[in-house]
Amino acid sequence: MENEGLSIVDKRTKTTYDIPLHKGTVRAMDLRQIKTGPEDFGLMTYDPAFVNTASCHSAITFIDGDKGILRYRGYPIEQLAEKCTYLEVAYLVVHGELPTVSQLKEWVSKITHHTMLHESTKNFLGGFRHDAHPMGMFISTVAALSTIYPDARNVRDPGVRQLQIYRLIGKVPTIAAYTYRHGFGYPYIYPDNDLSYAENFMNMLWRMAEPKYRANTALARALDILFILHADHEQNCSANVMRSVGSSQADPFVATAAAAAALSGPLHGGANEEVLKMLDEIGSKDRIPAYIERVKAGRVKLMGFGHRVYKNYDPRARIIRRAAGQVFEVTGRNPKLDIALELERIALEDEYFVKRRLYPNVDFYSGIIYQAMGFTPHMFTVLFAIPRTAGWLAQWQEMLQDPEQKIARPRQIYTGYAQRDFVPIEKRGA
Ligand code: MLT
Repeated sequence: MENEGLSIVDKRTKTTYDIPLHKGTVRAMDLRQIKTGPEDFGLMTYDPAFVNTASCHSAITFIDGDKGILRYRGYPIEQLAEKCTYLEVAYLVVHGELPTVSQLKEWVSKITHHTMLHESTKNFLGGFRHDAHPMGMFISTVAALSTIYPDARNVRDPGVRQLQIYRLIGKVPTIAAYTYRHGFGYPYIYPDNDLSYAENFMNMLWRMAEPKYRANTALARALDILFILHADHEQNCSANVMRSVGSSQADPFVATAAAAAALSGPLHGGANEEVLKMLDEIGSKDRIPAYIERVKAGRVKLMGFGHRVYKNYDPRARIIRRAAGQVFEVTGRNPKLDIALELERIALEDEYFVKRRLYPNVDFYSGIIYQAMGFTPHMFTVLFAIPRTAGWLAQWQEMLQDPEQKIARPRQIYTGYAQRDFVPIEKRGA
């Protein structure tokens, strides 16, 4: 709407300011003019954890948390999950449009030809302890790629950026698979360019002595769908880190490693591991009511429920719930699913959860599928990081191309001492 704006009356100075609005948003810098005098710094906004602050304009992902809507570049997640491959969606997320046949062919070919790791990267991985957490290995190894590709530092060159995008999307499954095999002491398996993105990942994870790995097509498709669902999620914690680190013009390998580090926390990508721990702790359906009571008493958390943005069912959780059936036809039913379904049923009928608008999120069901596929829980966040790499790179590119973006540098409200004189150590007391 044109001429949209606010009139703000500063009661301190009895001055009225006209502040324009754009898409329902006030520009924080427009508030700086609101001052008590020339010495005053001007008004700032205070928003710990950015709960009500837009840090950028973005055309990548749209979420309506109240309605439970998720779209990449305008396409509903349900349609993409049903009709696309992960690499097609990765192209869409990064480039903004669905690829034509020839664009997709080139994209897949480029990414496929960047799946191999430099042999020194294998040696680097060999330096980790046998029981190293795969996510720690993943983060460090992605960062270490920066030493192999120093050309990546030229982030202002679109051609250079494109090459790093191929490299990163191509190499993250290889790194992920190597972190997995490292834990078992198995030799690392080279990528197989005949296979699809998900099938090749399965090959690098699970191929043993057979000359050619044949992936189960239902499992490969389920993995591809999970990848599609995790490709991007607008300004989540790790995307914000990617943009923030990238804003200093650090290369995309270290920026991606930083984003993956943010993802590794139990409040972000590590959440599905916590869901499995919770389901294990509950143990059986008859113990659910007692667990729910403990949640209400604030003694434990209902993991996998609630989301900063969704105040409705996370649309990704619904798709995963459906895909679980296809996986279990191959793997056999994971008994945790029955506990999860019952937990969901009880929670969604319970006034306590309904009032708080706590619905299952993507993490509630993903761990159950991953476990049925044979992954140990400490691989779950790595499985999230593989597809999210496309989202991080899209956010990074968009940030670098946005003329309004600068190095990220929030302000603070200083609460420390104003000034005090140095005290020599012998006078500082006991
Ligand atoms: C994500 O997919 O990144 C998570 O749901 C977290 C978020 O969006 O805040």
